Amino acid sequence: MKISLNYSGNYSNLLSPELKLKIQTIHDGIYTKTGIGSDYLGWIDWPSSISQDWLKNLNDTAKDIRDKSNVLVVIGIGGSYLGAKAVLEALSKNFQPFKKLEVIFAGHLVSGTYLKQLMQYLDSKEVTINVISKSGTTTEPAIASRFLIQYMEKRYGEQASSRIIVTTDGKKGALRSLAIAKGYKRLVVPEDIGGRYSVFTAVGLLPFVAAGYDIEELLLGAKIAQQEFQIVDVENNPAIQYAIIRKNLYDSGYPVEILATFDDKLKYVQEWWKQLFGESEGKDGKGIFPTSVLYSTDLHSLGQYIQDGKRMLFETFLLVDKVDEDLTIVESFQNGDDLNYLSGLSLHEFNHVCYEATSIAHLQGGVPQIAITIDQLDERHLGHLLYFFMIACAYSAYLLDINPFDQPGVEEYKMNIFKFLKKPGYC
Ligand code: PA5
Repeated sequence: MKISLNYSGNYSNLLSPELKLKIQTIHDGIYTKTGIGSDYLGWIDWPSSISQDWLKNLNDTAKDIRDKSNVLVVIGIGGSYLGAKAVLEALSKNFQPFKKLEVIFAGHLVSGTYLKQLMQYLDSKEVTINVISKSGTTTEPAIASRFLIQYMEKRYGEQASSRIIVTTDGKKGALRSLAIAKGYKRLVVPEDIGGRYSVFTAVGLLPFVAAGYDIEELLLGAKIAQQEFQIVDVENNPAIQYAIIRKNLYDSGYPVEILATFDDKLKYVQEWWKQLFGESEGKDGKGIFPTSVLYSTDLHSLGQYIQDGKRMLFETFLLVDKVDEDLTIVESFQNGDDLNYLSGLSLHEFNHVCYEATSIAHLQGGVPQIAITIDQLDERHLGHLLYFFMIACAYSAYLLDINPFDQPGVEEYKMNIFKFLKKPGYC
């Protein structure tokens, strides 16, 4: 299993002695947990430190959910939402439910229409809810929780508390206090792991395992990545290479990175990636703005801008080598659509040609490129890829001299909401 990384520029030219020294310093800061923000570096060795007891508790909880319910509603936002959404969407089949249980998300947006229709839908189902919030105080999921907990209490009476699971901090927060008061089962988000780095904790994994996916394989991929990417090797460690290339492009006048894929299963991996890099790097007037496109769809919308608009973009293709299922174009006797020239071509092969054509066109249009290729999209490769992005993101932010693990900017709008709505203590 491997992540291969190709760059359209000359990578070796970027490797000055100063840069190598900086990478060594960053590496040491990460692995001795002494860099800025190191209180939140728990995710670095988390995959290899998970115990059998921890896994058993998660599996038992998932089984209990499935025994009681056919729908799990997961309430959370940001890092308490996107990890689970990304892994579930990446591995599910189109037009089919998740393997063993339906998982529906709420609290990632505030909409009376959404919540009302969700509760109507739940009326004909057996339901468990998993409220996820590390701080336990985030307003949007708290609002959704209030509605859904009231719904559960009305519907299940005293039994409601056995159908509500809370994933939150082990020591503080309103959600923790509520869970203790009401007797909800609690899963703990480790103190030293922040939201967008929490996909391999109960935050991302309970919905994943409840839906019937292979948690051991996902964690194995992450463990392999943990081993592989801890080596400080600027020539061979793709996580470090990705960080170095991004920093060089940023310094060369390319402040916007587009993560491009041809695989719609990666749509929420793109969303997770945007949060990871955007929230980790966008600080102190610095940082690459992360955005994403899904091809071919976006070749017929944003493709024009990418090819020809203001030159400030670089493009990172996220490619999957092998697909599970494919179709081959067959010859048609009448050839009314003039497509016989494509006979024998599989749709995956078409996408590969489309990638090569797009890559050359965009390069000629002045868009530098990185290509990240994984072998296939399954639990193990996904775990490997997500860990790769997390460690690359830490290097990237440190290369910009930014703390990758805080998000002070997110607080600004929250404070305004509290002020405008006159939250006690904020007006
Ligand atoms: O990465 C982060 O820390 C944030 O995106 C949080 O996950 C997000 O703000 C939700 O926070 P909480 O889990 O405390 O509700």
